[in-house]
Amino acid sequence: MSLLDVRNLTTRIATSRGVMNVVEDVSFTVQQGECFGIVGESGSGKSMTCRSILGLLSKSGSATGAAWFEGQDLLTLKSDALQQIRGRQIAMIVQDAASALNPVVRIGTQIAEAMMQHGLVSSKAEARQRSLKLMSKVGIPATESRIDDYPHQFSGGMCQRVVIAAALSCSPKLIIADEPTTALDVTIQDQILRLLVALQAEFGMSLILVTHDMGVVAQTCQRVAVMYGGELVEMADTASLFRTPRHPYTMGLLNCVPHLDRDVGTARLRPIPGAPPDLMNPLAGCRFHPRCPLANDACKSTRPPLREVAAGHFSRCLRQDVLGKDIWNAESARA
Ligand SMILES: Nc1ncnc2c1ncn2[C@@H]1O[C@H](COP(=O)(O)OP(=O)(O)O)[C@@H](O)[C@H]1O
Ligand SMILES: [Mg+2]
Repeated sequence: MSLLDVRNLTTRIATSRGVMNVVEDVSFTVQQGECFGIVGESGSGKSMTCRSILGLLSKSGSATGAAWFEGQDLLTLKSDALQQIRGRQIAMIVQDAASALNPVVRIGTQIAEAMMQHGLVSSKAEARQRSLKLMSKVGIPATESRIDDYPHQFSGGMCQRVVIAAALSCSPKLIIADEPTTALDVTIQDQILRLLVALQAEFGMSLILVTHDMGVVAQTCQRVAVMYGGELVEMADTASLFRTPRHPYTMGLLNCVPHLDRDVGTARLRPIPGAPPDLMNPLAGCRFHPRCPLANDACKSTRPPLREVAAGHFSRCLRQDVLGKDIWNAESARA
């Protein structure tokens, strides 16, 4: 049985311009001990998917569908029941560690907070001891002298380590990491990712890793889902997705990944031309068709279903028969 089973998740947000579906009919599962990636350009609905699952939508948002976790549908739980699961069973790590931490509360207190709240420690002294252990686990040096520091005394990378320590504190079964390294320097990004993946393996946790970086997915995830315009457009195990992508959008994203051997000093890095879809006025047909080199009349009128195109490999593209390696080499593709 899957640890998390998200079914037909649709999230609507009411804005002054009207209601829009920021997540539409998204289904995926996460297995015990698995690292599952969610990728897509900015605005594709990755964060909204995570927030919907954890009941962290603002008042203007509402989610339908189901998110089964250990026999309970998280979408139907009352807020106090969800509160019991959040932090304890499922922890979330967000992009901006500095803003996730409270500037006027000491680091150690913040790491201990969830353990105290969920009654996992019987005294402040015990919480402090466990916080110290967690700090060294996530690679914070001089724990004894730093545990009483405030967030502003830590660098961005160290703040993210604190956030990871807090997320680990209750030994959750699932960590949802929403672009956990985007705000950090490139060298620090790599360290934090390695740390997260090593801890995930050590603790036997599952991890949902949200990123817009295909390179990160390749390094860390067993399976991956690709989102575009609020929809899941492709899902597969990472090796098949990289070897034989089955959606033009994924192929475009992979085209954007730098390859050290071939891109140094060349102009091979091409972003996907065109703009993301306007969710307020969804197009008929495939949402990607205005940017797709393979789009034909059917793509403009028929919304493609997410179909299993190979074992365990799903794609929301009607043009399976003509998907080739070089579709993003404009001359050949448009012809
Ligand atoms: N509070 C909000 N009010 C209105 N629209 C929002 C709000 N938050 C996000 N959106 C919209 O929802 C869509 C999905 O956003 P998000 O899930 O944050 O994307 P991602 O995480 O993939 O970058 C975007 O089009 C964004 O503009
Ligand atoms: Mg986001």
